[in-house]
Amino acid sequence: MHTPQTLIPSDKLRAILGTVASNLGFEIRLLPLARVKYTAEPEGAATVDIPEFGLQAEIIGPAEQMPQVSRLIRELAVEMGQQENESLSLTREIVDRYEQLAILFEMSERLGRAEDPGARAGAVLETALESVGASGGCLLLSGPGRLLYFLKTETEEERSQLLALAEKAGHLGRASVEERSHIAMPLTVSNRGTIGGLALGPKERGSYRSGDLKLLATLAAYAALFFDSDRLYQDLEALFFGTVRSMVEAIDAKDPRTRGHSERVRKHSLMIAQELGIEGRAAKRLELAALLHDVGKIGLPDSILNNRGDLSPQQWELVRQHPQMGLAIMSPVANIDDILPAIGEHHERYDGQGYPSGKAGEDINLFARIISVADAFDAMTMERTYRPTFTKEQALREVRENSGSQFDPGMAGIFCQKLTAKS
Ligand SMILES: [Fe+2]
Repeated sequence: MHTPQTLIPSDKLRAILGTVASNLGFEIRLLPLARVKYTAEPEGAATVDIPEFGLQAEIIGPAEQMPQVSRLIRELAVEMGQQENESLSLTREIVDRYEQLAILFEMSERLGRAEDPGARAGAVLETALESVGASGGCLLLSGPGRLLYFLKTETEEERSQLLALAEKAGHLGRASVEERSHIAMPLTVSNRGTIGGLALGPKERGSYRSGDLKLLATLAAYAALFFDSDRLYQDLEALFFGTVRSMVEAIDAKDPRTRGHSERVRKHSLMIAQELGIEGRAAKRLELAALLHDVGKIGLPDSILNNRGDLSPQQWELVRQHPQMGLAIMSPVANIDDILPAIGEHHERYDGQGYPSGKAGEDINLFARIISVADAFDAMTMERTYRPTFTKEQALREVRENSGSQFDPGMAGIFCQKLTAKS
């Protein structure tokens, strides 16, 4: 941290005192403090100490006005010293604020890139360590969904010491500095109290100072706020997924033979996605799309859903409308735009012979191409209204045979490979 320690001799002081002195018919020289030592001041010369600037003024001029001019020079120097001090403390304040903002900005950037709670804890710790130059640290989030994260800690002993400090700060709700070598800070949210603690090991150089404490307090306050809203978001997400699940389970259960279908499609879609490197938020969106892919069936009459015989061409026409029905149902829902194509295109075929629009190849939404494989496999292996039930092996053979025509060969390949490996 940049902390100016002493006032710098100012050209401004030199110019102002020089002008004042010469207007009064005096000469003035500014020298380092205590350079000139008169045992007895000679006639027509005097010295005035200006410790505020680390200087001494040597004044030369008419002896009779010397006392008044010396006093004036001293008063001017004091006045300017005060002004310099004020501007310096303002500069310090601005530098401190800037540093705090730069660190918070850096942390926000890292938090924005972090996909899961562990990575978010890592982002906070990494920023904390860098901001004060600490050698290692620990972040603890207490309560439900407890999270403990260490960074750059080598030994078990070091870890337990840091954990104890983070727990203590979290428990007491206040910061502590242990023999200037360790520092701990609570994570506090004003209306909820303490949600955890942050503890850092020794600095790589020097010991902890009040500036470090101030910086970490700002960082911890921001991190606490972030983790608190993150938890709130996770609770809301769980509630949302729970609601969606019960809704699609209710649709699947309209026909006992399709019970659990959407959940299995979700699991199998996720299995393909993992292999494709789709993770974090994108994987969550795919899960949602997979759960909701057949939501349009809510509009199909039970006479079609429960029909064990052949469906009439008119009934087939209705069945084929369920992707568009799904779109119509879900379109008004907020923040779901990114998964609508998956719902609308899950019955498109890779060769363009699917419905409703006849899109082909990679023009078909990626999530739709994934869900299509998982959906068809599950449809084949469960007892269905309009085709005989396949064994797992028969269904896998069918997926392989239709790879490149019905299914995206990439998705079909991953699916068959993963499912064969499982058995
Ligand atoms: Fe479907």
